[in-house]
Amino acid sequence: MPRPLPPDQDPAPWLHAALPVLEGHARSCRDEAGPVVRLDAVEEVAASLGLDGLLLGGEMGPAECASFLRSWLGRCTRLHDPRYLGHQVAVPRWPAPLADLVHAVTNNGMAVYEMGPPAVAAELAVLRWMLSFLGWEEEGGGVLTHGGSLANLTALLAARAHAAPEAWTEGLPGDLVLLAPESCHYSVARAAGILGLGQRRLRRLPCDALGRLTPEGLEGDLHRAREEGLRPMAVVANACATATGLHDPLEETAALCREAGVWFHVDAAHGASALLSPRLRERLRGIEAADSLVWDAHKMLGVSTLCAAVLVRRDEDLPRAFQQQADYLREEQDRGPGPDLILRAVECTKAALGLKVLLNLAAHGTAGLAETVEILYGLARDLHRRIQARPAFETPFEPESNIVLFRWTGGPGDLDRMQRRLRRALMEEGGFYLSGASFQGRRWLRATVMNPATTGEHFERLLDRVEALASAMLDETRRTGIG
Ligand SMILES: Cc1ncc(COP(=O)(O)O)c(C=O)c1O
Repeated sequence: MPRPLPPDQDPAPWLHAALPVLEGHARSCRDEAGPVVRLDAVEEVAASLGLDGLLLGGEMGPAECASFLRSWLGRCTRLHDPRYLGHQVAVPRWPAPLADLVHAVTNNGMAVYEMGPPAVAAELAVLRWMLSFLGWEEEGGGVLTHGGSLANLTALLAARAHAAPEAWTEGLPGDLVLLAPESCHYSVARAAGILGLGQRRLRRLPCDALGRLTPEGLEGDLHRAREEGLRPMAVVANACATATGLHDPLEETAALCREAGVWFHVDAAHGASALLSPRLRERLRGIEAADSLVWDAHKMLGVSTLCAAVLVRRDEDLPRAFQQQADYLREEQDRGPGPDLILRAVECTKAALGLKVLLNLAAHGTAGLAETVEILYGLARDLHRRIQARPAFETPFEPESNIVLFRWTGGPGDLDRMQRRLRRALMEEGGFYLSGASFQGRRWLRATVMNPATTGEHFERLLDRVEALASAMLDETRRTGIG
């Protein structure tokens, strides 16, 4: 006779209560039955969810939990709603969410092998799969981290160890600099701070009018750094840039870095997934000549946050980033039958990140994941065409990914302020969720097409709505003199 499970160890009643709620949420998102984003004051959110009562606690059973989850989901930002065009965060697709549940149940903090052999095996398999798109599967290596910011830091630590191996013990030499375009993600500047370079030794590379680094500018800056007696520790390029979705010229940059003997890091957190598509991978031409790159699975591979890969062309470069032992976790003389990933990651304890990608691959295949990237990139081009067809809008470039910048320019006044007001008004209505970006010294609306269920009809509704809101705002200004 099996012994009954204690209530807090038995998944069945909790899952039975929660699953219909989650299913209802999925349907409601698909049917656009609620606001895509709901922005109330945080105090109001806390009160409506009864958080203070929950903190006092002790009362919640499966039924109360289901009721709480219903309220929670009713206030969530709904990525599965086709009107979600906000940030570069994946719309999770099944079966990947199961991996989060399995991890939550097993809690295999797998940075040491013995704390999760299948999770380590899955991570290595996913890394091998990623490396194969770069031709790095023989010599290269990698690690999965909790996010692209940590992945950039990890890659730049490896670059530092390559340029100045003594830095781990002696501290940072005074002549190291990091070169990156202004358009790179802020996590690169943060990494410079954390590494002890300081923002002054993060040199901003010259860019063209669209914010892409230029080979001539890079060549000049590499030369100048040398003349000043400085040692570039790495050059960082975007594939693609967060704000614009545009790609830096990787092939030319790689050639210049090779010639100068400088580490080349590509922040492909967003764009690397285009490598899966034979049609789109051309955009990343030259990426295989990098020394390291970052690839976020939680952006374009349909898995939840966070799941990022740091990939390096030479496997041995990654463990060199962390020249440290942790005897209580890992004794050299007591090595297990699998690798301890702790030697190549910032994290001491890691989630079973590989399982998310593995489940999606198993269910949808590389072709299925590639198709989604192609659909999203195609939808962005469709949106761009529709924007161009409307005289009240301006768009600064043809999208190279699934990110589109545009602005309403159909009237007088402070147009930067107008884009901010329009974005806020859309969110207050809950009908569409856009992000915003500054580019070329002006403010833009930014659509990141993440949901393959979004259609041209949604785009028309969005643009109609922006025009209607703008017109109402202008009327209001005319009437009240306040705008
Ligand atoms: C190009 C790029 N790099 C790095 C990051 C940071 O990634 P994460 O949010 O996973 O830390 C982002 C996030 O949007 C990004 O767009």
